[in-house]
Amino acid sequence: MTNKNNSGSFGSSRGLLNKIKKDKKRKPSSTRWIGRQLNDPYVLETQKRGYKSRAAFKLLQINDKFNFLVPGLSVIDLGCAPGGWLQIASEKVSSIIGNEKVIGVDILKTDDIAGCKSIIGDINDKAVGDHLIELLGQKPDVVLSDMAANTTGHRQTDHIRTTHLLEIALDFSIENLNRNGVFLAKCFKGGTEKEALDLMQKYFSKVHHVKPDSSRKESVEGYVIALGFKGK
Ligand SMILES: C[S@@+](CC[C@H](N)C(=O)[O-])C[C@H]1O[C@@H](n2cnc3c(N)ncnc32)[C@H](O)[C@@H]1O
Repeated sequence: MTNKNNSGSFGSSRGLLNKIKKDKKRKPSSTRWIGRQLNDPYVLETQKRGYKSRAAFKLLQINDKFNFLVPGLSVIDLGCAPGGWLQIASEKVSSIIGNEKVIGVDILKTDDIAGCKSIIGDINDKAVGDHLIELLGQKPDVVLSDMAANTTGHRQTDHIRTTHLLEIALDFSIENLNRNGVFLAKCFKGGTEKEALDLMQKYFSKVHHVKPDSSRKESVEGYVIALGFKGK
């Protein structure tokens, strides 16, 4: 059977995917990943809008629901590379060059983004957290954490490692947030996150689980948002 792909970008993606599927040297997991990328409307939209990452849509959709990023607020973004969340946060809080209210950190280098500052560092190191506050020049109103450990493929190990990052981000927030502040973090459901959720219930007025449409259905990824920080 001939497979003509002569109309539109969708046709050409399909042709490309067929070619990739026939490549016997490629690992099945890698073929599946490429297939998902080619069929994913958010990937295309990310490029169109000039976002640094597809993850930008997750923050946009969570903010559509809770409307917590408003002009004038200060934001710290933990695990910010390549920078999609920084772009959305700076747009929403109207952060400007020269008076940046949005500061990010990542163990990897983040591209320069207008209205944001970013540093390279590991948030496990307390000095890195202190440096973020120093750069911001005030306590943050919002702490974001999309931090994820590199996945191993072993579900329980991945869950424990990501929950550890959630706990570090939460400790940082409890230490530093302004009263009434907001904490939003990636949270894999799997059991070990209970202690962190209990702490959130204790220190914040409201805690919600949220899975934005742009977070892939088959993924264990979810987010937790804690509103109304009561103070330490
Ligand atoms: C899913 S990506 C973040 C994507 C980002 N929200 C965006 O919109 O572009 C997770 C990031 O967490 C970072 N990360 C993981 N552990 C970290 C740590 N201990 N300290 C700082 N960043 C960390 C990773 O390097 C990775 O860039």
